[in-house]
Amino acid sequence: MGTLIKNGKVVNANGSAQADVLVEGETITRVAPGIDPTGHTVLDAAGMLVMPGGIDVHTHLDMPFGGTVSADDYEWGTRAAAIGGTTMVIDFALQSMGKPMTEAFTTWRAKSEGKACIDYGLHMAVTDLGPNDAWLDDVDAMVAQGISSFKIFMAYPNVLMVNDRTIYKLMERTKQLGALVCVHAENGTVIDAIVQEALAAGHTGPLYHALTRPPVAEAEAVHRVVALSELAGGASVYIVHVSCEEAMSEVKAARERGLPVMGETCTQYLVLSIEDDMGKPGFEDAKYVFTPPLRQKKNQAPLWDALKSDVLQVVSTDHCPFRFADQKTLGLESFTKIPNGGPGIENRMQLVYHHGVNAGRISLERFVELTAEQPAKIFGMYPRKGVLAAGSEADILVWDPEAKYTITAATQNMHTDYSIFEGFQVKGNARQVFSRGELVVENGKFLGQVGRGRYVHREVPHR
Ligand code: URP
Ligand code: ZN
Ligand code: ZN
Repeated sequence: MGTLIKNGKVVNANGSAQADVLVEGETITRVAPGIDPTGHTVLDAAGMLVMPGGIDVHTHLDMPFGGTVSADDYEWGTRAAAIGGTTMVIDFALQSMGKPMTEAFTTWRAKSEGKACIDYGLHMAVTDLGPNDAWLDDVDAMVAQGISSFKIFMAYPNVLMVNDRTIYKLMERTKQLGALVCVHAENGTVIDAIVQEALAAGHTGPLYHALTRPPVAEAEAVHRVVALSELAGGASVYIVHVSCEEAMSEVKAARERGLPVMGETCTQYLVLSIEDDMGKPGFEDAKYVFTPPLRQKKNQAPLWDALKSDVLQVVSTDHCPFRFADQKTLGLESFTKIPNGGPGIENRMQLVYHHGVNAGRISLERFVELTAEQPAKIFGMYPRKGVLAAGSEADILVWDPEAKYTITAATQNMHTDYSIFEGFQVKGNARQVFSRGELVVENGKFLGQVGRGRYVHREVPHR
């Protein structure tokens, strides 16, 4: 006896067709037209799209940052994700300087245990290779624990930033292991100098967060990290939150040279801009202080084109929420003290579908590829996740393409007192969400047990 999702249009990255999906236990056992319903619980999906659940590979839940802690913990963040149609997240364990990576792994497993509402994995954010690079061996230990991607920050000096030597040494090791290096690419040292100049000139408001981090600082770092990957023998690299045409062009140039360079952009860079969303009176702009900052609107079309043409492979959220009232206001006196980050885990599928598929910028299949299949492939979980096929885990999104929805903080599930997408109207929304065969969301309500989400042990796919 299973659950039969009947009469829907099944969409995978490689094509779509009218078909039924049979789920038995935690697994999809058949995808075919006209499956006999006898003995199964039937969910009628006529008029619906049936797609792999979304995978958001860039989130920061319960993360200490900017003198505070991100506002969604694993329970709230993963519940909001599920309601929005996402069935897996990959979050970041942050290595503290002076402490081994193994300690960060233990800390982040404890944060998530008993709380996650959907499955989750971890990247390791590397800040310190230890005495005589001894903690490079932690990279092997982390791979054994199912962490197949390692994040480095080229920004945030004295907090998370690493130098080029560290990047190079890490890449040598990940190359040997077939693991991936994820990169926050911005020239942190020069940005710091520009920030000091702005402060000295008396510019302390939130807009100056954006004005002190120009696109060329992002593009330069992408260029440099591609060179470091070449020096390390061709280590696979994934550039996170590509925000502007200049940085995207560096990814494009690397890929045209056949280098193993991949990249994502995030929902906010596709639909928000400095012209439309910043320059508000008072301290309102602090809601949009994230890094890299919002860019000029002219960057949006090139980013969409890059998603369509596979220069970029993934859309994530970089969900790093802070409340306006008591967290963003830490920076009232200086933009340098505003916690960097914004909420978005709940709205990625709606916004990419509406502004991508409905607007004719990407196909339905590419939508699935960008939000589920490529995340699963790049991060070592395919075909276990990211596809609707016999043998895959039953992470399934039943999507109503006609459902109209207005995004607003008043009804959102993320624990912030604002939405960066306030008032955005979208067509297309999650109707049912299954996580490993269990119906966890129906019409915006989370039905699952808190803590049911499992840690996903990921493989190393970049050999
Ligand atoms: O502003 C952001 N993006 N905060 C989270 C940390 C990061 O840089 O991804
Ligand atoms: Zn970042
Ligand atoms: Zn991030």
